[in-house]
Amino acid sequence: MVLKEKLPQLLAHKTPYYLYDLTLLKNTLIALTTESKKYNYHVHYAFKANTNVKIIQLIKAANLGADCVSGNEIKHAIDNGFDASKIVFAGVGKNDDEILFALQQNIFCFNCESIQELQVIDELALSLNKKASVALRINPNVDAHTHKYITTGLEENKFGINPYEFETVIAQLKTLHNITLIGLHFHIGSQITNLSPFKKLCLRVNEINNYFLRKGFDLPIINVGGGLGIDYKNPTANAIVNFEAYFKVFHKFIELRKNQELHFELGRAIVAQCGNLISKVLYIKNGINTNFAILDAGMTELLRPALYQAYHKIENLSSTNTQQLKYDVVGPICESSDCFGKAVELPTTNRGDIIAILSAGAYGEVMSSNYNLRNTVKSYYLD
Ligand code: LLP
Repeated sequence: MVLKEKLPQLLAHKTPYYLYDLTLLKNTLIALTTESKKYNYHVHYAFKANTNVKIIQLIKAANLGADCVSGNEIKHAIDNGFDASKIVFAGVGKNDDEILFALQQNIFCFNCESIQELQVIDELALSLNKKASVALRINPNVDAHTHKYITTGLEENKFGINPYEFETVIAQLKTLHNITLIGLHFHIGSQITNLSPFKKLCLRVNEINNYFLRKGFDLPIINVGGGLGIDYKNPTANAIVNFEAYFKVFHKFIELRKNQELHFELGRAIVAQCGNLISKVLYIKNGINTNFAILDAGMTELLRPALYQAYHKIENLSSTNTQQLKYDVVGPICESSDCFGKAVELPTTNRGDIIAILSAGAYGEVMSSNYNLRNTVKSYYLD
């Protein structure tokens, strides 16, 4: 979709706001399910990427499961029609209320991150007279080669159970009668654009899967998490990620036994490209070395650039100027990190121009805040 052509529609709403292209989301879901079905793979949408009701309803309609990281995400998934039998619950710090709620809902699986968590889930399941289905989240020590804040599969990261703990876990499991171990879970990081870390992950999964078999655990579920990255530089040319190549890596390198299912938890790759942050230029400050375009959207609406120095493509949708100038595109918040891009080349920009910050559908709206008592950001849809 060419946003410039939608300008008259965009002007109807007060900025800043998220604008979602639902047609692109639907097409992304078609591409995803076409490829995953080839191998009978199961995909749980990672709710943390975007919990906007219109978005998750389309994802539900595509028959995906849900990957949740809080009791509220589980409730939101169920309230919006997701089947509890397709919900996985991850997170390194699940609290007792969340665990009890998930047990009462009979979710598919807890992705369990520590020995102590196993004991707590067992205790709480006993109190409800239930059996909890659990997958062990394993820290495979595979480098995802992505930003350090979104790398999760290294020994130094807080996530998962390390291989040196396996013996203890196995001994413990024998004493935990309200837990059924059904699988192994992995997630090495996010925004992974080169597929080779996924190949390495597959090889580690094979070793660990075989280890558990040798120890007497023939587990039906292997969950390899999410992490497939998108093209922030060329969002229009690569609006839909190459799911075919992604699933092929797993098909080629993972060794599943006949009774084993492969599960995924994709977030960003599904929703990132369908969302854009639409904003207006409040002021232009032309300096000696630096020109600033000051927007009415800031890190309160889209935190990723401030938090991870993340790149998002920025477009001036309303300017018809042919002359290009470089701007630091910044927000109104009193923080120097409140900057969407430095030395961004834009047509000469004026107060009142409409600016789009692209590829903001994942970890955008969900990470927005009311810092400075800013209004909660709104969203609109194109279909
Ligand atoms: N599964 C687990 C256990 C996860 O921790 C995550 C993301 C996912 C699945 C989904 O990963 P995805 O397919 O979306 O890459 N706020 C950061 C990203 C944090 C990702 C956290 N975990 C960002 O804006 O880049």
